Amino acid sequence: ELSVNLSKTIAPIQPTMYGIFFEDINFAADGGLYAEMIKNRSFEFDNPFMGWLQPKSDRHSLNSNSGIATAIKYTGNPTNTTYCRIKVNNDAGYQLINEGFRGMGIKKDAAYNLYVSAAKPSGNIKTIIFQFIDESGNVLGETKIAPTTADWKDYTVQISATKTEAKAKIKITFEGTGDIDLDMISLFPVDTWQGRKNGLRKDIVQLLYDMKPGFLRFPGGCIVEGRTLEQRYQWKKTVGAVEDREILINRWNTEFDHKLTPDYFQTFGLGFFEYFLLSEDIGAEALPILSCGMACQFNTGELVPLEELDPYVQDALDLIEFANGDITTHWGKLRADMGHPKPFNLKYIGVGNEQWGSAYIERYKVFEKAIKSKYPNMIIVSGSGPFPEGDYFEYGWEELKKLNAEIVDEHYYKSPQWFKDNATRYDAYDRKGPKIFAGEYAAQSVAIASPKNKNTWECALSEAAFITGLERNAEVVHLTSYAPLMAHAEGWQWTPDMIWFNNLDVYGTANYEVQKLYATNKGTDLLSITNKGIDVTGQNDLYATASKDIKNKTVIIKLVNTSAKTQDVVVNLLGKKVSSKGTIIILTSENLTDENSFETPNKISPKKADFKLKGKRASVSLQPNSFTILKLKL
Ligand code: AHR
Repeated sequence: ELSVNLSKTIAPIQPTMYGIFFEDINFAADGGLYAEMIKNRSFEFDNPFMGWLQPKSDRHSLNSNSGIATAIKYTGNPTNTTYCRIKVNNDAGYQLINEGFRGMGIKKDAAYNLYVSAAKPSGNIKTIIFQFIDESGNVLGETKIAPTTADWKDYTVQISATKTEAKAKIKITFEGTGDIDLDMISLFPVDTWQGRKNGLRKDIVQLLYDMKPGFLRFPGGCIVEGRTLEQRYQWKKTVGAVEDREILINRWNTEFDHKLTPDYFQTFGLGFFEYFLLSEDIGAEALPILSCGMACQFNTGELVPLEELDPYVQDALDLIEFANGDITTHWGKLRADMGHPKPFNLKYIGVGNEQWGSAYIERYKVFEKAIKSKYPNMIIVSGSGPFPEGDYFEYGWEELKKLNAEIVDEHYYKSPQWFKDNATRYDAYDRKGPKIFAGEYAAQSVAIASPKNKNTWECALSEAAFITGLERNAEVVHLTSYAPLMAHAEGWQWTPDMIWFNNLDVYGTANYEVQKLYATNKGTDLLSITNKGIDVTGQNDLYATASKDIKNKTVIIKLVNTSAKTQDVVVNLLGKKVSSKGTIIILTSENLTDENSFETPNKISPKKADFKLKGKRASVSLQPNSFTILKLKL
């Protein structure tokens, strides 16, 4: 028998309690959320023709009898240094193909916007034809442009797909002879999220939106830090005109599988402005994380000397101005020029990702002083390093406590057993110390980031058990997020991931369902739920947390049964009258090894039913290996 005291609130549950952590890993941005379909649209990759091929060619040469494609390096634009010159020799019709990101997903009758910059320096190329083709070369839709000027000119046309195809490509054919220059060949579905140009994949954003996340942390992860300082994420290079955003090799390029992702670059078409917009769209607080002058300590660990840290600190101050400054400020004006005159109302900023040691603390202090003196209300998130153990972890925490750090980010990628055992992790945390951001966590079915890891029901259930501990400690735990967020089924470096997609479809894993259930049923105030006065933290394989939602006048009880047997539980609702009718939501699956998939995306998904209360007693049979939520009206 469990008891919930309805009249005593323990702590508020922060609106930020359950959020999302976005990193451009696993093709999450280019090739994923960012709806661009052309790979290497601006010929700026290290190999300017990566992603581009010729029909039936050996892929190493874009030359043929009918023409030659050459990468032209020029100094006219320091951040867009290459374009493609095609010399068409004869009327055979020179052809180029873009392979997309593991192909292009096109849907029957859907329309696609094609943008291209072209110049016609000499000769007489009459038409450029753009065609969707399938693997056998069948045409699945086409459009054309007639280039008119010797100078660069932008063209926009639409193509409709005549068939649904997961592995389409785009073929470009030139009619006439002579020279033609091409740059920024870009293709987007018309139907992006909110119908935006340079937009995001609607189906993927929908899954994020449905979670009602409290915050969006971006842009990573290790990509914030870079393998080298030179390759760190620099937000200023990701705003302004899309074609002027300087491309960077992704830190996850070829990391775990040298064959899978040698073509992983960041075009930054999805840059900081777009991240702020996304946060706003999905009702999440923006939580940008910036480089603190330390490259990834798992790679080079390069450090900026303290006396040269100013530009890094300035980036943080300027970012706050970009987000919140009015249009009379330099960076606030850029935001307005980009289409958002109103401030984004940024409240949080993260200093460094997963850094550790005295080098971090020294740099953190400099950032903290500068940010707080200019923006005293900005809440700063600091890091505790990777994985919660070891001397460096203790050291970081001690130092951050001395500095009165506000929020400390902890990361854990551990076994399902660890998650169950750690449901009490925050029970003894200092209530007056820094607040917790459980910024990256995920149960690993095999080993950390093993390519064999699966998003099993066992992993998701162990996370559900662990999260009862996060919620029971809402007094100190203010933000939490699963990681990584998403992965392309044919181009990933890390498993497990919360959302999987290919070029046509997307599905949420069992872990996604757990996150969504918590995020959409969090309540506003924490209540106690105990068994004979003791918190329910895994005794008899049972975990529990309770809250109330003062806006919806609801009491929410979450129960996780990690045993293979049904458990009959009675919850006594003390202190206030509760309506006899409620709702029960159950998430479970027959086998612990079960997973959602493209074929069965809803295999593990919540089932809802009416629930009846007898007096003040809620009797519930908890199914084996299940996560159950009771919602009762106050
Ligand atoms: O989520 C994958 C990686 O794990 C992140 O980039 C990093 O912060 C952590 O080590």
